Amino acid sequence: MDTNLQKRKEKSLRIKVISMGNAEVGKSCIIKRYCEKRFVPKYMATIGIDYGVTKVCMRDREIKVNIFDMAGHPFFYEVRNEFYKDTQGVILVYDVGQKESFESLETWLTEMKQELGPQANMENIVFAVCANKIDSSKHRCVDESEGRLWAESRGFLYFETSAQTGEGVNEMFQAFYSAIIDLCENGGKRPVSAVSVSFTKEQADAIRRIRNSKDSWDMLGVKPGATRDEVNKAYRKLAVLLHPDKCVAPGSEDAFKAVVNSRTALLKNIK
Ligand code: GTP
Ligand code: MG
Repeated sequence: MDTNLQKRKEKSLRIKVISMGNAEVGKSCIIKRYCEKRFVPKYMATIGIDYGVTKVCMRDREIKVNIFDMAGHPFFYEVRNEFYKDTQGVILVYDVGQKESFESLETWLTEMKQELGPQANMENIVFAVCANKIDSSKHRCVDESEGRLWAESRGFLYFETSAQTGEGVNEMFQAFYSAIIDLCENGGKRPVSAVSVSFTKEQADAIRRIRNSKDSWDMLGVKPGATRDEVNKAYRKLAVLLHPDKCVAPGSEDAFKAVVNSRTALLKNIK
């Protein structure tokens, strides 16, 4: 046997990955785009689970990937729940034109955690979040910084994808498999570099709160009718936290601008 081939075989890995996310977000199409290089526009809901095996060669290794493509519809919960265990990687998908599918990501993590039980360590699974259907930009309602913040604040990989055009799909799988190899080489633990987050929880929470605030008072986190001093104090705290020179969290620049504008608007009307 060719010695290179023999080496690759010796270093071969067998991994299990699953797809998760609401029905119709494009899980099956992303997998199909990567494995079969094609796109099917007609929706054919996955019934329970679709199983496939594929082989990839990467970093001098042959990887046998067992892919369990889950049905997103709640109806199939009883079928899905059997398949969470012994997973090294999760492709977690939402549709950028469907807010609800983004908001459901947390519920998917909860379902998985519940099925794995209290001993399971979700920290040692690689998650790749796919913000899918970016080709239909007209309908987009979850922007990149919102999705990226959600993913990266949890130590997950984040990709913008379109199963229709293929954009981002290969990049996602390459980075996903590479992170799983790192995990396997690190004794099944997610390496520190993969989980280290370059911003704090306080920064991520502030950006989220600002994004969801209903008015300028709310944005600065002060009560309506607050004094100039209170407004300025709240402003300074947020400005230090979110200043673009200090904060690299996705969406921090917009949040910072919104805070500056809110302060200006409020001070105009406070005697
Ligand atoms: P379930 O199996 O029911 O959980 O759904 P799923 O998440 O596997 O969705 P599927 O891949 O079957 O795709 C659902 C619909 O979205 C299909 O009509 C696809 O053609 C369409 N679709 C998937 N990905 C894309 C995309 O990137 N862009 C666009 N425009 N449509 C997509
Ligand atoms: Mg499917």
